[in-house]
Amino acid sequence: MKILKGFSKLSAQEKRRLAVSSCPDPEAAARELVSFLHPDQDVRELLEGISENTISTYPLPYNVAPNFIINGHPYMVPMVTEESSVVAAASSAARFWAGRGGFRAEVKDDAKAGQLHFLFTGDPAQLKDEMAGIDTWLRHYTKPVTQNMEKRGGGIRQITLKDRTHILDHYFQLHVDFDTRDAMGANFINSCLEEFSEGLKAFLREKDDFDERDYEPLMAILSNYNDRCVVRVSVSCALEDLEEATPQMNAGEFVRRFLMAVRIAEKDVYRATTHNKGIMNGVDAVILATGNDFRAIEAGAHAWAARSGQYRSLSHAALDDHVFTFSLDMPMALGTIGGLTRLHPLAARSMEILGNPGARELMMIAGAAGLANNFAAVRSLTTTGIQAGHMRMHLSNIIMQLKATPAEAEQIKAHFRAHKVSYQAVSSYLDQLRAG
Ligand code: MEV
Repeated sequence: MKILKGFSKLSAQEKRRLAVSSCPDPEAAARELVSFLHPDQDVRELLEGISENTISTYPLPYNVAPNFIINGHPYMVPMVTEESSVVAAASSAARFWAGRGGFRAEVKDDAKAGQLHFLFTGDPAQLKDEMAGIDTWLRHYTKPVTQNMEKRGGGIRQITLKDRTHILDHYFQLHVDFDTRDAMGANFINSCLEEFSEGLKAFLREKDDFDERDYEPLMAILSNYNDRCVVRVSVSCALEDLEEATPQMNAGEFVRRFLMAVRIAEKDVYRATTHNKGIMNGVDAVILATGNDFRAIEAGAHAWAARSGQYRSLSHAALDDHVFTFSLDMPMALGTIGGLTRLHPLAARSMEILGNPGARELMMIAGAAGLANNFAAVRSLTTTGIQAGHMRMHLSNIIMQLKATPAEAEQIKAHFRAHKVSYQAVSSYLDQLRAG
C-alpha cells in the first residue's frame, strides 16, 4: 500500500477524491458523501471541525422514548441508536413502569479519578512520610489550572500515594479524586495531572533530602474506571402488579423465570456479557444523544462488572415479601457542560428536551434507560423470545424498503402476524396484493 503523506493538509474535496478512488463508481460515491454534508455552512464547518479528515457526516436515527418517570419527574428521553428495537423496548418498559411508580434513582458519589504514574528509585518510606507536604505543594502548584473549577465548587478532592511496586519495580501512583461539577472534566483532569507531573519534580528538587533524578514521570491521565462516580436505578412493585407484564404467563411464573435469567447473568460470563450489552443499548443511546463519550462509559461499566474478579451482570433482581425489585448500579461519569454537550446542535437540543439537567440528573436518566432496556430484553427472552419483537421491527424496515403504501403496510402486518418474516416472503406477498 502506498503511504499517503500530508493527507490531513489536503482539502476535504481532495480527501474525498482519494478515499473513493477504489470505489466502482468514484464520482457517484463522492456525490453521495457530499450529499450527507449539512446544508447550513456554519453547522457543516462546526461538524467538520470536531474531528480530523472529515469527508462527510454520518446520520443516525435521533429518537425519543416517552413516559420515563424518574424520581417522580417525567422525561421524554432522546436516544441515538442504529439498532431498530432499542427505542421501542425502552419506551415499552418506561410506560410499563410509569404505571408502577416509575424509576427511583440516586447518585452515590460523583468523584472522577485520574492518576500520575511514575517511577521512584529513592526511599519509598521517605516519599510516604512527605505525602502531606506533597499534597499541599501540588494543590498550590496547580492553582492556575484548578482555580476556575474551584470557583464553581469543584477541584481536587483527594490525593493518595499508591505503592504499586508489586506490579513493576519502583512504580508508584498519585491517585487523584476530582470534583468536576457538571463537566465531564477530561481536559481539566488531564491538565491537572500533567501539572502534578511537573509539580512533583519541582517538589523533589526543592527538598534537600530528595534527589529529583530518582523520579521518572511516566503517564498523566484520567481513569475511565470511575468507581466513585456511581448511579443506582431501580424499579419495584408488588408481585400482583406484574400481572400485566406479559400476556404469556401469570405474574408468579413471569417473576420466577425473570429471576432465573438474572441469576444466570450474575454467574455466567457468556450470558452476563449479552445481558450487559442490553443495558448499554439504552445507556449508550442517551450518551450519544447528549454528546457524551460512550466508549468511556462502556469501558468503565465492564470493568465495574468484573470488580469481584468475575464478570457479572450489572443489574440484579429480587422478590422479597411479594415485592419485586429490579436494580442497576454502574459508574457513569457524564457531563452536561463542556465537550460536545453544548457544541453539537443536536446534543444541545437533547439537553433542552431533558430540561437542561445537571450531570447527576443525566447520570440517573441514562441509568434509567439502561435498566428499561434490560427489563424489556429479559422480559422478551423469558416470555415470547427475542425474535418476535425483532422480527416486527425487521418487517417495518422491509415494508419501508419495498415502498409499500400505508394500506398495503397494514395488510402485510396483518398477514405476517401468522407467517414467518423474510425479505423474499414479504416481497412476494406484496406482489400478490398488487396483482389483486
Ligand atoms: C440485543 O441488542 C440485546 C439483547 O441481546 C440483550 C439480552 O440478551 O439481554 C436482547
